[in-house]
Amino acid sequence: MSGWTHAPVLAGEIADMLIVNPDGVYLDGTLGLGGHSKIFIAALGPQGRIVGLDKDGSALAIARQNINDARLQTFHASYLDAPKILKQLGKTGIDGALFDLGLRSYQLDDAGRGFSFLRDGPLDMRFDNGAGRGAADIVNSWPADKLEEIFLKYGEERSAAKIALAICAARRAGRIESTAALARVVENACPRAGKIHPATKTFQALRIAVNDELNIVQALPAMLKDIILPKGRAAVITFHSTEDRIIKYGFKTLVESGGWRLVNKKVIEPSWKEIKANPRARSAKLRVIEREI
Ligand SMILES: C[S@@+](CC[C@H](N)C(=O)[O-])C[C@H]1O[C@@H](n2cnc3c(N)ncnc32)[C@H](O)[C@@H]1O
Repeated sequence: MSGWTHAPVLAGEIADMLIVNPDGVYLDGTLGLGGHSKIFIAALGPQGRIVGLDKDGSALAIARQNINDARLQTFHASYLDAPKILKQLGKTGIDGALFDLGLRSYQLDDAGRGFSFLRDGPLDMRFDNGAGRGAADIVNSWPADKLEEIFLKYGEERSAAKIALAICAARRAGRIESTAALARVVENACPRAGKIHPATKTFQALRIAVNDELNIVQALPAMLKDIILPKGRAAVITFHSTEDRIIKYGFKTLVESGGWRLVNKKVIEPSWKEIKANPRARSAKLRVIEREI
C-alpha cells in the first residue's frame, strides 16, 4: 500500500481554523494516510506536535511514511481513547482536534478489506481488522427485523425490508461470505434503476453496524470536554446526514452547557471546485467548535 495518498477534504479551511497556536499540541483522531496532518504540520512551529490515531493499523505506517516528521506521534487506537493516550503522554490538554469520519478510499479500493461491492473480497468491513466481528457474521446470523432496522437507520434504505428478507432467503442455501455474493443478493431483490448501485446503502449500513460508528460518534462531543484546552477548537467532518445530525446536536448540547461556542454557525461544505477535483468531497460537512473557558 506504500505510496498511496489521497486529497484531504476541506484541508485548507480546517488548517486555518484549527491551527491557532503554531507551537500547540493537536490531535488527528482519524489520521488515515495523514493527508490533513501533512498540511497541519506545515503550519506548525518547531515545538508544535500532532498526536495521530487510527483504528486501522495499516494506515499508520503509510501516514508515517507520507509525513516523516518527529513532530507526529501515531497510535493504533480509537479516537475515543484520546483522553487516555494524552494522559499517558503527560499532556493536560490539546489546542485542537480533527475527526474526519468514515472510510478512506484506500480502504474501499483494497478488496481484501471487504468494504466494496465493486471489488470481490471477504465480507469483512472492520476498520480494525484485528478486532471484533466482521460483516459476514451480521449478514449470516442476524434476524430479518434487525437487518431491516440497520439498513433503514444507518443506510436510509427505502427497500430495507425487501433486502433483509432476500438476505435471509439466500443464506438458507449457504452462508454469504463475499462482497460480490451480497451485492448479487441485493441486486436481485432491487434491480438497478439508475447510476447508483442498489447495494450502496446496504453496504454503508453494514459498515456502520460492524464498526459501531454511530455510538462512537455519539460519544465524541462529550469527550471533547476532557481534552480541549480553553481557546482550543475541534473540527468534525461527516459524510452522511445521520452522523452530521449527531454532531450538530452534540455541539448544541456543549454550547448550552456553557463555555463553548460554534465557530461556524452554518455548516461548511466544499466548494464546487474542490468537489470537481475530488468527487468524494461532495457529501462532506464540516462543523467547528471552540472552548471559550
Ligand atoms: C476519512 S479517513 C481519514 C483520512 C485522513 N483525514 C487523511 O487525510 O488521510 C477516516 C479514518 O478514520 C479511521 N477510523 C474510523 N473510525 C475510527 C475511530 N473510532 N477511531 C480512530 N480512527 C477511526 C478509519 O480507519 C480511516 O482511516
